Amino acid sequence: MVEFSLPPNSKVKPGRKNPAPSGAKNPRAFKIYRWSADDGENPRLDSYEIDLADCGPMVLDALIKIKNEVDSTLTFRRSCREGICGSCAMNIDGTNTLACLKPIDEIKGDVKIHPLPHMPVVKDLVPDLTHFYEQYASIKPWLRSETPPPENGERPQSQEERALLDGLYECVLCASCSTACPSYWWNDQKFLGPAILLQAYRWVADSRDEATQERLDELDDVFKLYRCHTIMNCAKTCPKHLNPAKAIGELKKLIAARDRA
Ligand code: SF4
Ligand code: FES
Repeated sequence: MVEFSLPPNSKVKPGRKNPAPSGAKNPRAFKIYRWSADDGENPRLDSYEIDLADCGPMVLDALIKIKNEVDSTLTFRRSCREGICGSCAMNIDGTNTLACLKPIDEIKGDVKIHPLPHMPVVKDLVPDLTHFYEQYASIKPWLRSETPPPENGERPQSQEERALLDGLYECVLCASCSTACPSYWWNDQKFLGPAILLQAYRWVADSRDEATQERLDELDDVFKLYRCHTIMNCAKTCPKHLNPAKAIGELKKLIAARDRA
């Protein structure tokens, strides 16, 4: 597992303690990063003890319980609670993952929760993904084709062509991989990062797309693509068990083949 610890000069201080309710059968402490631009305070770790005997099994269940029953100011993103929307990505117990897919009972001791690393924080567990989505838009993530579609509007694929998208289409753009990548930490303005490069390869691999060469030309850049040094944190941390490093390798191979032709 990929683990991150707070830097030694971190200004994150222990924060408020919220004890377990009386009579709790299975209390567990959740230590959660809190920061708001509005109060002028440094970040802090608030502690919330909740009764797991009266809580759903996932970390997101605990966060929702805390927000509903203990502290309505706690801020985090979530929507589907099914691992589909990608919005509940955060750093749990040292690993970037989706809170709705992370069972509490996989974690030993206190459950420590931080926002995704190396991203600006909007509030508490909510990172600012503006730049991430700008990078996503930059790869033109839609079907680009000059050939008009058949009359019924459907562009057919063989089963083999469709199978090339397996391991790519499942990406929920949660940003867990990109924010686990040291190359992305240091070069996030120029390196596209694993999530966006996996998405770029998703369109290159699509038999219906006719902009393959333009896509490869746009990616063939010392920073955009080649800042990937195959560190592999992306594949280790992806909560959907995808392998962005493999997709990046496929892009590099296609560009090398183009250059040899
Ligand atoms: S590849 Fe995995 S970790 Fe990266 S954005 Fe997609 S789903 Fe999230
Ligand atoms: S709430 Fe949608 S992925 Fe977790």
